[in-house]
Amino acid sequence: MWPNSKLFFYTCSGVIFVISFVGMLIYGYKTFYIETDDVEANDYAYHFALIAEETDNDYWRLVEQGAKKAADEKDIYLEYVAPEKADNGKMLKLLDRMISAKVDGIIIQGIEGERFINLVHKGIERGIPIITTDTDVKNSERKVYVGTNNYYAGKLAGQAIINNTSGEQYVGIVTGRFDAINQQERIDGFKDAVATVDRIHIVDIKESNITEIGASQATYSLLRQYPQVTAVFGTSALDGVGIVNGLQEIAPNKDMYIVGFDILPETLNLIKQGKIDVTIAQYPKEMGYRSVNVMIDLQTQAYLKEQQFTETEIIDKHDLTTTKRFGERK
Ligand code: BGC
Repeated sequence: MWPNSKLFFYTCSGVIFVISFVGMLIYGYKTFYIETDDVEANDYAYHFALIAEETDNDYWRLVEQGAKKAADEKDIYLEYVAPEKADNGKMLKLLDRMISAKVDGIIIQGIEGERFINLVHKGIERGIPIITTDTDVKNSERKVYVGTNNYYAGKLAGQAIINNTSGEQYVGIVTGRFDAINQQERIDGFKDAVATVDRIHIVDIKESNITEIGASQATYSLLRQYPQVTAVFGTSALDGVGIVNGLQEIAPNKDMYIVGFDILPETLNLIKQGKIDVTIAQYPKEMGYRSVNVMIDLQTQAYLKEQQFTETEIIDKHDLTTTKRFGERK
């Protein structure tokens, strides 16, 4: 009995020793690995974070591309982070996390509400420059805004309907998200533009959740509820395509005036096919590129021009066949 117990004891001890030893090796390797990584991160001049609205949204990937280009040119480590699906709460958490991580600068889509304003204050107090891109929050302490003048962009959409239609027009609006400031500003600009024209009436606004399928459903329900609709304005990048699909379902033969937003390839194809009449172009790559350069300047200068608007313009079928500059910048 006794020798067997002894054998048992030694065997157990041996097994425990081997497990501990292997554990130590793995742990040691991991520690070493992380250290190497840190050294690599330290090789960069600065570490900036770009916080986008939605990870795989084609529009935000263009902002990222522009930002990465500037980062590569200037030896910056650029971290692109975003919620999988648009969600203000999750973006705010990412902002808080980046402040705690003490990055050298944060580029973020402006978010509605007090929490954003407080977090920007917290970041600035800790010496981290924060700038907004794509969407501004003017009453926050963000250092600079780089992006479209969204109110003006909405006005352009209104002018397109005024100039290119005749007779009574009943407009349905499909908007990305009700709680996104840039979408609200575009709608305000649009409303102000058409306010003085009696023949143009806005019937309703529905939300697409910045998805193509959402825009398609919103269009379907708009037309179901208001069969008198003669024009649809989509205020975010995937809305135009969704509107065309939604109309195909519910009113395939109706002649409708469609204003889209952005110049993603599918939207441009539909313009070529005559299915979207015009789109309001903005330049996300340029936003990303300029944002990183502004952030570099902010490392040594406390104040820069506060609102730095990137270009926005109306694009129609004719523009796509001419050699307009917009093709180069998109
Ligand atoms: C807006 C972005 C939005 C995107 C959605 C763009 O028009 O500027 O804020 O995330 O559309 O696809």
